[in-house]
Amino acid sequence: MRDAKARQRKKCGAVSRRAFLRQSVRFSTGAAALATTSALSEGRASAGTSGRIDPGYFASQFYDDAEIAGLRDVVESGSPFRFWGPRAPQKVKTFEDEFAKYIGAQYALAVTSGTAALDCAVAGLGIGPGDEVIVPAYTWWSDYTCVVHAGALPVFADIDRSLCLDPADFERRITPRTRAVIAVHLLGGPCDMDAILRIARERKIAVIEDAAQAVGGTYRGKKLGSLGDVGIYSFQLNKMISSGEGGALVTHDPVIYERAVRFHNMGSFSRVFADRTGQSRVEMFAGENFRMNEFTGAVLLAQLAKLDRIKADLRRVFLAVLDGVKDLPNIRFRNQPDPEGDLGYALYLEMDGRAGRDRCIAGLRERGVPASTLSGSVLLPTEPSVVNKQTRHPNWPSFASSEGRAIRYGRETCRQTLDIFDRFVQIRMGPKYSDEDVARIIQAIREVFPQA
Ligand SMILES: Cc1ncc(COP(=O)(O)O)c(C=O)c1O
Repeated sequence: MRDAKARQRKKCGAVSRRAFLRQSVRFSTGAAALATTSALSEGRASAGTSGRIDPGYFASQFYDDAEIAGLRDVVESGSPFRFWGPRAPQKVKTFEDEFAKYIGAQYALAVTSGTAALDCAVAGLGIGPGDEVIVPAYTWWSDYTCVVHAGALPVFADIDRSLCLDPADFERRITPRTRAVIAVHLLGGPCDMDAILRIARERKIAVIEDAAQAVGGTYRGKKLGSLGDVGIYSFQLNKMISSGEGGALVTHDPVIYERAVRFHNMGSFSRVFADRTGQSRVEMFAGENFRMNEFTGAVLLAQLAKLDRIKADLRRVFLAVLDGVKDLPNIRFRNQPDPEGDLGYALYLEMDGRAGRDRCIAGLRERGVPASTLSGSVLLPTEPSVVNKQTRHPNWPSFASSEGRAIRYGRETCRQTLDIFDRFVQIRMGPKYSDEDVARIIQAIREVFPQA
């Protein structure tokens, strides 16, 4: 019996005491850095030696006196509105300047959410009725709604083993009406931007980068969002930095910027923006109110200063787990178009199918590891409201054209995406995982994966 157990342990590659210690020593630099966090953010995540390991919400685990000081400034100034007040408001403007510098973009615009940023990006590109926009079949609702709200037609393309847009399927879905593609850097990992940009440039299609789930990620050394025509970010609670809600748009193009600014502020182009672009180039048109307030700007300024630390802590955990399991026979991970630029939001194991995926998830969860199917997005073409092309008015332009009437959504239109969704196991990483957490995750994967 004992021999059988030993054989089983060997087969599963259970972590030896020596390997465990090696792992712990390597990881202890990270643990020391984590130990220096303020009292405010202590004890919000991870589980120690037993219980369920919990990645928590990254951004708010790093809240400390800096966010409080920023909020106090706004209260004391009595100026929570970004454009005027008793004392000259500076938070949102300064955040825009610093965010543009951080991303390496010419211009940044702060808005109320990632969804609002996408609406501004689509308005910035002048997309409307009669246009088609290619959207990944697995992503968040906002990539679909921004197209529909503009009266344009969403055309889905499959994802591939990068869990992001499949460039080959993107190319297949292009028609003479395609105006833009939304390259979503999903789950902390960059898209294959070389291929996407090459196809888009050849076919004269605009590239919107959605880096809502990958704020601070990179591709070949450049920050995500700075490679295409316009990039967007979200600062909602589940994101890398957070003010609860919030978003931003970046671009190098003054016309896209002015259109996006006008859309976000009732059609007007205030002095602060004109100072950045030097002059106005666009006529006024009907816009929305997606302005960020100074409280949000204050929190985001404090958070932006911590983004590199959050990234470094998260990647250190991710790389330690990867290192502890990459020798397992037949192990396959998510394809990473640029491994250096991936934030390490989670480790993704590729199984042979749904049954193996579910066995693996169950085994990991039994051991307290935060494992699940892919999360945080929606298989959009399978959603009833999408299949039935439901809009807020029956004559909505998106689906009133002959192409809009003819297009079909549903499971048969995204088979590759469904197959990939069924094969991947997600194991969440957390920037505040302890060395014990890391060792437990490694041990659990080594026990469960070979048998799943
Ligand atoms: C890929 C993606 N795009 C856009 C958004 C929208 O961001 P927000 O929730 O800030 O509106 C999200 C939000 O989760 C997202 O995951």
